[in-house]
Amino acid sequence: MKPALAALFVCAAGIAHAQTPGPTFAKDVAPIFQAKCQVCHQPNSIAPMSLISYDDAKKNASKIKARVVARVMPPWHIDKSVGIQSFKNDRSLSDAQIATIAKWVDAGAPMGDAKDMPAAAKFPDPNRWQLAETFGPPDLVISSKNFTMPAKGEDKWFRPLVETGVTEPRWIRAIEVKPSFPNGRKVVHHALAYLLQDEKGVTGLASTAMDMNMGPGLFMEWAVGKTGQIFPPDAGKLILPGARIKWEIHVHAMGEEAKDNTVELAVYFYPKGFVPPHRTVLKMFDVTHGSDLDIAPNEKSITQNFYVMQAPARIENFQPHMHMRGKAMTMEAIYPDGRRELLSAVNNFQWRWHVNYVYADSVAPLLPKGTTLVFTAWHDNTASNANNPDPNQWVGWGDRTVDEMAHCWIDVTYMEQPEFDKLLAARKSQKMTGMTMPQGSR
Ligand code: HEC
Repeated sequence: MKPALAALFVCAAGIAHAQTPGPTFAKDVAPIFQAKCQVCHQPNSIAPMSLISYDDAKKNASKIKARVVARVMPPWHIDKSVGIQSFKNDRSLSDAQIATIAKWVDAGAPMGDAKDMPAAAKFPDPNRWQLAETFGPPDLVISSKNFTMPAKGEDKWFRPLVETGVTEPRWIRAIEVKPSFPNGRKVVHHALAYLLQDEKGVTGLASTAMDMNMGPGLFMEWAVGKTGQIFPPDAGKLILPGARIKWEIHVHAMGEEAKDNTVELAVYFYPKGFVPPHRTVLKMFDVTHGSDLDIAPNEKSITQNFYVMQAPARIENFQPHMHMRGKAMTMEAIYPDGRRELLSAVNNFQWRWHVNYVYADSVAPLLPKGTTLVFTAWHDNTASNANNPDPNQWVGWGDRTVDEMAHCWIDVTYMEQPEFDKLLAARKSQKMTGMTMPQGSR
């Protein structure tokens, strides 16, 4: 390249201008990496390589372009062309940021002028409790028992039962989950924490009566890629004296022995005596009808399931769960008046990333009683699925990551009709002011 020539062009008026140079690392790309990548791509965090120095970025340039253009990195796999797009935890890149990165790689990943480099970003300890920034230190930390995973072998499941030590009823505003650092993070694929407590004698909870198979049920679900759960300011979870946690921790081998790992739950309470108007329950919406799943070699398959809401409810999040052949999942509402609305779609599912897409408060879907929720899951057992370990296998339902599943984890906040009507009316007036245009909430 001859920079002296390339840098000048002559505009229609015949005057020579300095041509707008293409993006450089120092000026254009480093700020994007600081904002969207380095939290994981730095020494001591969870990603395989750092993306802080120019040399590291340059070395990985073609991989970076491939992952970013395919919208695999950063891990945010929602279909941006349909459904609700306003989330509390959106970490995706804008189209303009993707274009900048792609152009930079295509131009040979130039450094640019070192004077343009932004000051190094400061990151907190990757092993910290992340929600402590919002709520202060956790009020309660519940640890699983230690487990050790050998270097090689089949996936394992650990199911310890532990006491919480809770001595009085408390309402919970947020829960965070963290496998021990650094090896726990590398081997834990997925952890469930069931809350076991005696709910007899608990009165005044609309949700308890409304959802027969609820009970206290699941306390928290965690999978790689997820941090935790913050409940909206009018809702929470209830924990009672004597409560215990039954863990189910799914672990896979990482090539070296991972000794004495734990998974910890951090619990953040509402102030003592505060009772939120609504109780949120974590529900699993099964898409495969139990274990009914049979995927032929070199085929794609679709599964669907339907749920009729037995009470008015607000849906707080969307979190599909599948394994290696999982490709896409959608959640659709058929309202009692027959209108259909696609609420959310993940069209680029990555089994290593169980991202919990948490709706912004102003758009979290409000579903009248009698609404049908339709879940559709796609599995791709062909060679065109880059995550497929073997397209020539029949694949059935099962716990291992080479088996399949399809379900969706959703926090549902059930409410009484008058409360629901109030929320709906507030949503409508919000819409009329033109300040926000809530989707998924007509
Ligand atoms: C939430 C944490 C997180 C964020 C944010 C994130 N990454 Fe990653 N990235 C990972 C992890 C973990 C892996 C390894 C597992 C995988 O491939 O999914 C990875 C893998 C990659 C790879 C493939 C590495 C290889 O050797 O195959 C590239 C390239 C990449 N990330 C680029 C980026 C870029 C560019 C950004 C920002 C625009 C970004 N990532 C944001 C966690 C993250």
